[in-house]
Amino acid sequence: MNPNQALWEKGDFTRIAATMRGSGAALVGALGITRGVKVLDLGCGDGTTARPAAVLGADVLGVDIARNLVEAGNARVKEQGLTNLRFQEGDATNLEHLDDRTFDLVISIFGAMFAPKPYDVAKEMVRVTRPGGRIVMGNWIPNDPTLVAQILKISAAYSPPPPNGFVSPMTWGVESHVVERFGAAGVPSEKISCVRDTYTFDYPGPPSELLAVFRGYYGPTMNAFDAAEKSGRAAGLQKELQTLFESQNRSPSADRTAIPATFLRVTVSL
Ligand SMILES: C[S@@+](CC[C@H](N)C(=O)[O-])C[C@H]1O[C@@H](n2cnc3c(N)ncnc32)[C@H](O)[C@@H]1O
Repeated sequence: MNPNQALWEKGDFTRIAATMRGSGAALVGALGITRGVKVLDLGCGDGTTARPAAVLGADVLGVDIARNLVEAGNARVKEQGLTNLRFQEGDATNLEHLDDRTFDLVISIFGAMFAPKPYDVAKEMVRVTRPGGRIVMGNWIPNDPTLVAQILKISAAYSPPPPNGFVSPMTWGVESHVVERFGAAGVPSEKISCVRDTYTFDYPGPPSELLAVFRGYYGPTMNAFDAAEKSGRAAGLQKELQTLFESQNRSPSADRTAIPATFLRVTVSL
């Protein structure tokens, strides 16, 4: 099986996504979406950004490699009676089922960054966007001191080295790589802007419980614990992550967790 797909089908990202809904809606709310705009949400999960775009009246297609998340997204759509949003399985490295120049807006928030072959991903995103349209990506930043970059960094120290030729998803959080990848897809650098932005993980319980959600349901963290258990180091990984979650928590209330995390917001104007 495709290891990229296996990673995201391993857990249940809906459990993490539930803590990101507020920031997803805020990000989408600032994109100037109007009724009838055609939106592709790539690596959409169960719809943290796709759903608010549909609520604003856009005609939204969510594409994700994980079949369990596509199913969860479509179940939410049915439950909420939305007729302008649907989810389907697809791989950001090859969107062959989508025509050229179809979408006014392609969104990918912490989605396409996790696909292998970043040059193919940039090319596909550009290909399916219509001239005059936009691509908006959210990418975690390598070595950033906030939550997700640190989870991935700590986890890497407990995991076997990646296979030869593996390109870290975090490279999408470096402006020079972003410019190079979209440049190779024909976009001049002056059409690309990168700014730092914040997403907040908001959970109705203490940091230890939010960590338990990551340990139980977030594919990359699950894999790190699997590897750490094999090498007898799971307690060390748990301890480092516990310290991280507690130190990053900004909630004034003891029974809630609010952790802001910095990301690179990339806007490409075509
Ligand atoms: C961190 S989650 C983010 C999900 C969603 N964008 C959100 O903000 O809730 C990463 C998502 O990217 C998807 N993904 C990873 N590799 C992909 C690929 N090659 N093509 C499409 N989706 C992919 C995963 O299945 C997962 O849903």
